[in-house]
Amino acid sequence: MCGIVAYVGPKDAAPILLEGLQRLEYRGYDSAGVVVSNRGLKMRKVKGRVADLAAVVPARFRGTLGIGHTRWATHGAPSDVNAHPHLSADERIAVVHNGIIENADELRAKLEADGAVFVSETDSEVLSHLIARTVEDADSLAEAVRGALKRVVGTYGIAVIDAQRPGEVVVARNGSPIVLGIGEKEMFAASDVAALVRYTRQVVHLEDGELAVLKTDGFTTFASDARETAKEPLTVDWEAGHYDTGGYEHYLLKEISEQPETVARTLRGRLDDRFHIAHLGGLNMDARETRSFRRVKIIGCGSAYYSGQIGAQLIEELARIPADAEPASEFRYRSPVVEPDTLYVAISQSGETYDTLAAVQELKRKGGRVLGIVNTVGSAIAREVDGGLYLHAGPEVSVASTKAFTSTAVAFALLALHLGRVRDLSPADGRRICEGLRALPGQIKEILALEPQIKELAHKYAGSPSMMFVGRVRGYPVAREGAQKLKEISYVHAEAYPASELKHGPLALIGPEMPTVAIVPDDELLDKNLTTLGEIRARGGRVLMVGHREADPRLADDCLVVPRNEIELDPILLSIPLQIFAYHAAVALERDVDKPRNLAKSVTVE
Ligand code: G6P
Repeated sequence: MCGIVAYVGPKDAAPILLEGLQRLEYRGYDSAGVVVSNRGLKMRKVKGRVADLAAVVPARFRGTLGIGHTRWATHGAPSDVNAHPHLSADERIAVVHNGIIENADELRAKLEADGAVFVSETDSEVLSHLIARTVEDADSLAEAVRGALKRVVGTYGIAVIDAQRPGEVVVARNGSPIVLGIGEKEMFAASDVAALVRYTRQVVHLEDGELAVLKTDGFTTFASDARETAKEPLTVDWEAGHYDTGGYEHYLLKEISEQPETVARTLRGRLDDRFHIAHLGGLNMDARETRSFRRVKIIGCGSAYYSGQIGAQLIEELARIPADAEPASEFRYRSPVVEPDTLYVAISQSGETYDTLAAVQELKRKGGRVLGIVNTVGSAIAREVDGGLYLHAGPEVSVASTKAFTSTAVAFALLALHLGRVRDLSPADGRRICEGLRALPGQIKEILALEPQIKELAHKYAGSPSMMFVGRVRGYPVAREGAQKLKEISYVHAEAYPASELKHGPLALIGPEMPTVAIVPDDELLDKNLTTLGEIRARGGRVLMVGHREADPRLADDCLVVPRNEIELDPILLSIPLQIFAYHAAVALERDVDKPRNLAKSVTVE
């Protein structure tokens, strides 16, 4: 997704902007550009990588004020011209924009009728033209920007500079994140804290409708009616080092390997051995309220949604409350019935996925009680919800989610324990789950030690054009996430089905060319799962079984045996070998593991 960086201060802006853009690369983009102000605007932009941009920025590209952008094409193909920034015709105004302007065609037609000449196909270019029209007569750049934004329908995070006002950057937000970074006699802004942590830990998140003016000596924020707003800076604890590969070949492998620690961090301080409960202060609910819910509805996108399916299962089993998960986008578009006795839980690693945020806002409008399970402190979803749990997994850079997925499932186990223990979950079962949770980091280490075996299996199966993933009840979300990991990073077609559904259709696909990964935990459904394996083998299908024991060679070609925990928590552990499997399949197929084609880390548009 698009990224924004802005700087004003005493230093040369270009190196800071380029470094910031590099930090945003992980989000996915196709072109990049920068503009600095120094007796006029100097701009460079290219289709391609930030490194390609850096190569065309001349050594003498001086200016202590500037803005930069990484673009992910929505209106118009990736090209040098469509890349941001966009200048006004007189080259006085430069704009970078994230989001989508819905009435761009209409505005463009009006501006063209008025004599404006557009050079790009983007929706964003209307902004530079609109601002340029009024900036001459406006009291301030902020006023001109505000005027232009009043005419715009859609979502935006923007940064704007004016060649005639070389001391300030104006940024504004509506639906697309903007974070200000406060430095020593310098100010930064970006669409993601990743671009700021090298320079400052003091940040301010803009709310929708807010606009900020950044100058060397500080910043001022305004609400949409131009009244000044008061903002408290937040200290972020993510460090620049979190954004390095730390000696690993890929971020993905680094993040998979971090999971013993990240799971421990999600659990830290939250388990009570005396009463066998979970301490979750951030929920902002007392016991009476916690008991009052009769249903739990979980929403999220992609891997967040699949971890929500694991969560729904945990809540039903441990708290005996009906629970289910649904993609956030589906939920928001079907005009959901919002019930007062339903607890809604929104999941997001980034905390800014637009579909999830919009679903939360819809719920809040209808009076729903919403908790968030979020990784990014202070993110839009975290600020919108009534309470929740932070994952504390540290920044996740690789596009495919691994450690955030696992930590979310662990967070759900904590929430399920909490909801269960204020209801009917016995202290003995509470203790069993607490002990199981404590064992997870050590058991994840044991799974990581299986990497050589998993790598060999990945090489064996990676050549297949298509793979089936099956699981039953607890194993089904594991299968779904396993298929998701494989398809997104290796581009091998993968389908996930409930094991029981296989015979109702997809069995027709099974044959020697379509192997199956079967999730077979040692639970009460073991025999049923083994029957499914028999059905697959009878059709000549190859089977890789992921479970708790070696299977009869007549039922599985290969077995991956992982440590056993409590049956309710096993899905968390069973997911991890599938991450490693997908990783090695992608490496074997020479894919761009951390930045798979067509995907972005956080999708901040509809
Ligand atoms: C994108 C990513 C997925 C991710 C999903 C939700 O689609 O490509 O990997 O699972 O967004 O992201 P979130 O930040 O809300 O967890």
